[in-house]
Amino acid sequence: MKKSFLKASAVSILALVGLTAVSVLAPAAGLSDPELEKVVAEGKQLFTQAKFNGNGRVCQSCHLGGGLEPGRRPDGQPIPSLANAATVFPRYKPRPGRVFTLSDQIRSCVGGALEGDVPAYDSHELMALVTYVTSLSQGKAIDMGGQPK
Ligand code: HEC
Repeated sequence: MKKSFLKASAVSILALVGLTAVSVLAPAAGLSDPELEKVVAEGKQLFTQAKFNGNGRVCQSCHLGGGLEPGRRPDGQPIPSLANAATVFPRYKPRPGRVFTLSDQIRSCVGGALEGDVPAYDSHELMALVTYVTSLSQGKAIDMGGQPK
């Protein structure tokens, strides 16, 4: 009687430990949240289509393959892919002379490269673009100030 009770408790404790491990580990394994995935998809759509009332370019005009392939400026100069972009921000940018977050960088590309209406920090558009670009780095280690690859 006592033995089987102990056995049952051991099984339920093991099950609990197992469930906890799964719920702790699950988010790192992929984007398991459908709401998050929805915003990633919105961000990808903006990345490939949104012109922000600018010069007609979209993000993907320079950042090829959804940002995962090496990019190219309009003059043909190479740009690193965005495959680890989210891991290297915040980083110090000599030109503005200050630390840039990923949001700052994306706003700078909209204003400069697209010559578009720069989305506000609290806008849905910027949040979706940041979410999409960050999703490209899912699972990669943070390397603030590191090199884009
Ligand atoms: C006309 C070409 C062009 C377009 C269009 C463009 N970018 Fe960029 N982007 C660049 C260049 C060049 C750099 C790297 C130079 C720099 O640091 O400013 C860059 C850098 C970046 C980086 C940082 C990469 C890293 O790892 O350091 C991100 C993120 C980024 N762009 C996102 C975007 C997004 C999002 C859009 C669309 C809203 C966009 N870019 C549109 C040219 C472009």
